[in-house]
Amino acid sequence: GDVGRGRLADPGAIVERALSALGRTRDLEGRRVLVTAGPTHEPVDAVRFLSNPSTGKMGFELACAARKQGADVTLVAGPVALENPAGVEVVRVNTALEMERAVSSAFPQSDIAVFAAAVSDYRPANPSARKLKKGADDEALSRIDLVRNPDILAGCGKAKRAGQVVVGFAAETDDLVENAQAKLASKNADFIVANDVSRGRVFGADENEVVFVSRAGEKRLPLESKRQVAEAILDEAKKFLK
Ligand code: CTP
Repeated sequence: GDVGRGRLADPGAIVERALSALGRTRDLEGRRVLVTAGPTHEPVDAVRFLSNPSTGKMGFELACAARKQGADVTLVAGPVALENPAGVEVVRVNTALEMERAVSSAFPQSDIAVFAAAVSDYRPANPSARKLKKGADDEALSRIDLVRNPDILAGCGKAKRAGQVVVGFAAETDDLVENAQAKLASKNADFIVANDVSRGRVFGADENEVVFVSRAGEKRLPLESKRQVAEAILDEAKKFLK
């Protein structure tokens, strides 16, 4: 409308100014961001599961950073000890199959999807509903048959529409960039956040040194906090939105 003398500026503009004065932006206002985080638990029986040491920190930092920038955020989290970030829709899951179901319902509406979860690649083929007992169930406990889990990121990469941005992670001990390039292609991601895990780092750490690998090449980031890495990932993803 017309802003006469003594009129207040549009509240949105005031908020925008205040945030930019605080060094923050609302670049993701009106955008939907989907994040996966944490490990998955793949049941062997009623009391045992296969998993990995992922803590979910990176994914939770991503969800918080996207929220701060004004996005509508859905965080699909495996079993982790972290609290729900304020203002974020959190869907808690246990298994890869549950994560896939939650992601497939949120992905079609998302503008940016970041797959930070450490999904178990395999699950026991025949989990037992009861607790298996050593001795009596020696057979079942000493040889657990596994089957492949669906690749959630690859499924979304395949279903991706024009304008949707898909970001994957890769943890590698060898040939970091080559392996990340291969994942970029096979999963149809826009870029891969590649972690060098050769020196026993990353899982549970507060800091992370990563390389962004895209079809345009690679971009090496310094060792930074996971919060800073999360902001850098969103900055990079925003470039693909345009
Ligand atoms: N990912 C996924 N669903 C899976 C497996 C992985 O969404 N079932 C995603 C992860 O969230 C991550 C990326 O894919 O973004 C990691 O790729 P992945 O193939 O799991 O890497 P590795 O397990 O290291 O694979 P490889 O053994 O081929 O190196």
